[in-house]
This record gives sequence, structure tokens and C-alpha cells, in this order.
Amino acid sequence: MSSQPTPRKRVTIHELRRMKETGERIAVVTAYDATAARLVDAAGADVILVGDSLGMVVQGHDSTLPVTLDQMVYHSAAVRRGLARAGGRAHLVADMNFGSYQTSADEAVKAAMRLVAEGGAESVKLEGGHEYVEVVRRILRAGIPVMGHLGLTPQSVHKMGGYVVQGKEAEQAQQILRDARALEAAGCYAVVLECIPAELARIVTAQLRIPTIGIGAGVHCDGQVLVLNDLLGLDDAFVPKFVKRFGELGKAVAGAVGGYVSEVKARTFPDDAHSFHSSTVRLVPAAVSDDDHEEPSGGVMGAPV
Ligand code: KIV
Repeated sequence: MSSQPTPRKRVTIHELRRMKETGERIAVVTAYDATAARLVDAAGADVILVGDSLGMVVQGHDSTLPVTLDQMVYHSAAVRRGLARAGGRAHLVADMNFGSYQTSADEAVKAAMRLVAEGGAESVKLEGGHEYVEVVRRILRAGIPVMGHLGLTPQSVHKMGGYVVQGKEAEQAQQILRDARALEAAGCYAVVLECIPAELARIVTAQLRIPTIGIGAGVHCDGQVLVLNDLLGLDDAFVPKFVKRFGELGKAVAGAVGGYVSEVKARTFPDDAHSFHSSTVRLVPAAVSDDDHEEPSGGVMGAPV
């Protein structure tokens, strides 16, 4: 009898469109490894994003810019394995890293294909508006759905002059709306709106037939996305205004690891319950010359019993 879990019906891009039409909110969470994927899926997330935010929260960089395509493929494949092991239902979208789609549509198609073929992603996400319409079309022509990303686009941190709210002025707000329409017309199945005023997100959401997924964009978006480490409260460093900590796992981890360290120091761990025993194991004499060597008659050293 197989021990594999029964696979559940996967969330598709068509299901996400249906959710917009019926007003059911879409919950998106990032994950970067198999364990997180399994937990996030089991908790009911509709979409798992293998975000290039992994450059900051996993790799410790201060931006997403150093993340490579190989690394995105690696993490996406790990997440896919976690989902497969759990019979996961969440849709899996992987970020296209900085440098993988800006140089040419050909390069972009090749990168997107690697994320799908090797990384197991079902769609890809890229940052930018009207200037990427051709790239979006080309990736779509290869059969790969594309999610857009507008507003604060972290890969353009230097152009934006920092991680600052976008679309507060009328002209910039108009451009974000135009870009959203352009991405929809190009065939994107959804668009992330990051750090824009809630009033603007409301207008964009009302004007698009595809779902908007907000992060720091207020309550009117069709769905929300948060970085897993942020929502779990794993990090005590700077917490942006839009992040709500739904747990305090940083404190829980410190407590658990602290407990382990104390017990190791106090020699109370491992106790009997966490040790292996064998009444037949005998010590091998320490200094035996080759000539005198005899096989010990009882016990096996090295195998757990
Ligand atoms: O990389 C990422 O995690 C993202 C989300 C914050 C939208 O792009």
C-alpha cells in the first residue's frame, strides 16, 4: 500500500480568476523550502510564492539583487518537493530574479522555462509595467502564465531611491494604473501591488478583471501576500508598517534552542529516553597489535540498536 498522501485538486490560474469574480479573497504566502511549503499549504494558502525576497530573509543580503536564477530554481524545486510530499493544493509561482528577464525576451523565456521545468513552478512573476509587455507575451507564448508586480518593485530599489511607497502623487498613480491595464492586456493572470496607497489599489482592483494581490496596498485588493518569515515574527529587525506578525516564532525559537543549550551544558540531555542501549556491546581493547587482533565475539559497534 502506498504511503503517499492523496493529491488534492490544485489551485489553477482559472480558479484564482473565479475567486476574484465571486469575491473570495486570495491568500498568498512566500516559502523557500520543503518544510515551509508543506506547512503553508496545510494551513490553507491558495498560492505559494517562491519570492526573490529569499535573498534577504534566507541569504542575508540587504536587497533581492544578488539572487541568481540557479538559486531561484533550487528553492522552487525544494518547495515543489514539499508540496508533492504533502499532496499540496497551493498554486506555485516563482519569482524571476534580477537579470533573468531584463536583457531580452529570449533570455526571459529561457529563464521562465527553467523555473517551470526544473523548479516545478506553475507560473512566474516579474516586476515592471508597460516596458515588459513584450516579455510577458513571449513567456505566455511558451505556455507559462505570468504574474505582474507593480508599485514598489524591490529590484528597482536604486531607481526608486529606497524602499518607499509608490503612487502617492497623481501622475505616478496614473502610471501604475496604466501599467496594470497593460499587464492585463498582455495576458498576466494576476498582478501584485506593493506599497501603494489603498485608494489607488482600490481603483486598480476595480478596473481589472484579473486579481490584484496586495502587500502594503490596503484591504481592497483581491488577495494579500506576506513574506512567511515576517508573518511568523521570526525576525526582530525592522518591521515594515504593512507587516502584521501573526506569530512570535522568533521568541519560540530562542526559547527552544536556549532550552537545548542549557540541558546540554547541564548534561541532562540526552537522557535515557533519547539514548540507544545494548547489553551485548563490549569495549574493543584500546591498543591491540595486528597479530593479536581478534574479532570481538559480541555486539556491533556503529549501528543504532
Ligand atoms: O519576493 C517576494 O517575496 C515578493 C513579495 C513580497 C510580493 O515579491
